[in-house]
Amino acid sequence: MPNSHIPVITIDGPTASGKGTVAARVADRLGYHLLDSGALYRLAALSAVRAEVALEDERAVAQLAEVLPATFSNGDIFLAGEEVGALIRAEEVGNNASKIAAFPAVRQALYALQLGFRKAPGLVADGRDMGTVIFPNARLKVFLTASVEARAQRRYKQLIDKGFSANMDDLLADLQARDERDTHRTVAPLVPAEGAYILDTSDMTVDEAVAQVLHWHTLL
Ligand code: DC
Repeated sequence: MPNSHIPVITIDGPTASGKGTVAARVADRLGYHLLDSGALYRLAALSAVRAEVALEDERAVAQLAEVLPATFSNGDIFLAGEEVGALIRAEEVGNNASKIAAFPAVRQALYALQLGFRKAPGLVADGRDMGTVIFPNARLKVFLTASVEARAQRRYKQLIDKGFSANMDDLLADLQARDERDTHRTVAPLVPAEGAYILDTSDMTVDEAVAQVLHWHTLL
């Protein structure tokens, strides 16, 4: 692999664990590139819905994912030229992403696209299988988690801040269902990678979590 010498930090964890925020801040501090792999699954799900492809149709969704017209620029996310960063954060898109992410053909279709994010001087990659499947030789692997209640609280605040409506009981039930699906699927289930540092952020601020990851990074 021509770029295998480029350092990668993987940050995996369950939905709403704060890994996206922590990954973006760590990447910023180190001047590294950022891969928000969940956004790719969300974009593929959005693409399928827009193309009126059934989410149960593994082959058809994988075909769309294979040629996903996704671009990332300065924190903005584009699908075929349209900025959809806020749109793909909706719970419905997340739930659809979790469904299509269980299909091996969809994961395979997004594989090369994800490897392409490994560019100098380095990459911070966040998702579910960054340390286990996509970048198994990453320099630092972190498994970031938090209690389901803490995560539901954070997701509630995130949604309200973004102008979406939200209901706490629905959010808790959704998170539990999504955890169940992401953890128990047969391909690339959400499990800590071998050698991953476990970081429970239930009682931590974002600053503390970022500082901990940067500290582990300096130890390597
Ligand atoms: O991190 P997120 O909530 O944006 O991810 C949305 C869904 O995509 C999540 O429920 C599971 C799936 N996903 C995945 O299977 N593998 C990844 N590396 C990232 C996300």
